[in-house]
Amino acid sequence: MGFWKSLFSGSDAPAAAKAAPLERYVADGSDDRANRIFFSTEREIDLYELEELCDAVGWSRRPLRKVKKAIQHSFLVVSMWEQRGVQRRLIGFSRATSDHAFNATIWDVVVHPDFQGKGMGKALMKFMIKKLRSEDISNITLFADPHVVNFYRNLGFMSDPEGIKGMFWYPD
Ligand SMILES: CC(C)(COP(=O)(O)OP(=O)(O)OC[C@H]1O[C@@H](n2cnc3c(N)ncnc32)[C@H](O)[C@@H]1OP(=O)(O)O)[C@@H](O)C(=O)NCCC(=O)NCCS
Repeated sequence: MGFWKSLFSGSDAPAAAKAAPLERYVADGSDDRANRIFFSTEREIDLYELEELCDAVGWSRRPLRKVKKAIQHSFLVVSMWEQRGVQRRLIGFSRATSDHAFNATIWDVVVHPDFQGKGMGKALMKFMIKKLRSEDISNITLFADPHVVNFYRNLGFMSDPEGIKGMFWYPD
């Protein structure tokens, strides 16, 4: 935990999430911000860097033109970056689609294996939820892989609330 304390601006990881988009800090360039973890809502992400991150957790590759389109059309895109000096590294990502009024669905939650188990995923999710709540979205859903159900449960997500079942249709 000490490692993250030194990288976040405070001892509380989600507090770092209050940071404005990354550009501001790069432009600012002050030394005390040299080694940090930042969240960004900027959606101009290097797709190859994102693909590397997804490769690192063993996700199947998706056509980049479709990933680009999905990002462009998402309601919220959050990336998590490690900044060491002038070097930036994409270490986490998530996005949400929404009807802009009632509902949002969170997709593609990922933290690089080098950074897992350190509270990063939790901080990323809390940041997502906070941003969606700030847009007055009250119904936040997601699709959890079986091995991460408890990760989301810890964050307050329920499976089958009041018996409601997620249902899927796939082409044959
Ligand atoms: C799932 C993932 C985002 C979690 O990120 P992380 O940074 O490792 O998680 P954190 O360190 O923030 O863990 C937060 C809490 O969840 C728990 N947790 C983490 N991964 C978990 C898992 N797979 N199952 C159950 N609990 C888990 C942690 O023990 C921790 O508990 P605590 O608050 O009581 O200490 C990350 O492991 C990941 O990117 N996995 C590969 C991609 C993936 O499967 N994404 C989800 C697709 S639905």
